[in-house]
Amino acid sequence: MSRIAYINGRYVPQSRAQVAVEDRGYLFSDGVYDVIPVHNGHLSFADRHLDRLDRSLAELRIARPMSRAALLQVAREVLRRNGIRNGGLYIQVTRGVAPRDHKFPKGVAPSLLIMAKRLKAPAPDLLAKGVAVVTMPDQRWARRDIKSISLVANVLAKQAAVEQGAFEAWLVDHDDMVTEGSSTSAWIATAQGELVTRPNGTEILPGITRSVVVEVARELGLTLHLRAFSRAEALAAREAFLTSSSNFVLPITRIDGKPVGDGKPGPIATRLRAAYLTVARS
Ligand code: PDD
Repeated sequence: MSRIAYINGRYVPQSRAQVAVEDRGYLFSDGVYDVIPVHNGHLSFADRHLDRLDRSLAELRIARPMSRAALLQVAREVLRRNGIRNGGLYIQVTRGVAPRDHKFPKGVAPSLLIMAKRLKAPAPDLLAKGVAVVTMPDQRWARRDIKSISLVANVLAKQAAVEQGAFEAWLVDHDDMVTEGSSTSAWIATAQGELVTRPNGTEILPGITRSVVVEVARELGLTLHLRAFSRAEALAAREAFLTSSSNFVLPITRIDGKPVGDGKPGPIATRLRAAYLTVARS
């Protein structure tokens, strides 16, 4: 079945969907995006994702392309036309099409693209064995709280991780503190079993999965600290894991080639994954 995308008012076969060469997303990465997880045919945490999209748009002073109700209607239609029950919905808004000139164009409507994709089945032993991460300098811009489509530093980090046989890159700031992954939020559980993840701010994307897992962890009575942790702390952690809309909660069992704890997925990450999925599917 050919995939269908929504682009600027039309549903079109994705392979034939096109944007103008002067779209500012294409020329300047002048746009934002969000990815909403789809569970059992429903958009999970849609309001949180759309609040984040609104915030990203406001920070870049790009107009909302349509009302939230209209956007949700289009989103559901894209899922329906693609027959997607479990996967992710991709929404991208750029400042629109105008002759190339850095300053904002006047009287230009934003461009809206919505696509959906099926969840790819995780590799068989991803969950059983956990994944590896490697640390590297965070070379991104200073406003990582905005979900900008300008992702080249994230792309380079992920590629470097993959070339080292790892699943994800953990990005480290000038003080040797972990910010987040190239497309995931970063967590550890200390030797005392206390959860640590960096507080929201301009250094990281406010992950929606992260926000849900913070709530779930508190409900489970786990001790949680919203603070930055160093690479050294990560290496000494009992457990480590990552969170994102497409990976949920994924145990990390190696950091820079060294085993985390006993080198196996730990009980805290496993419990949080189950609890997160219960909420996401409800
Ligand atoms: N990535 N940090 C970064 C830099 C991200 O790009 C993402 C999401 C996350 C996790 O956020 P959430 O829990 O809201 O998915 C953290 C998306 C999915 C992507 O780029 O495909």
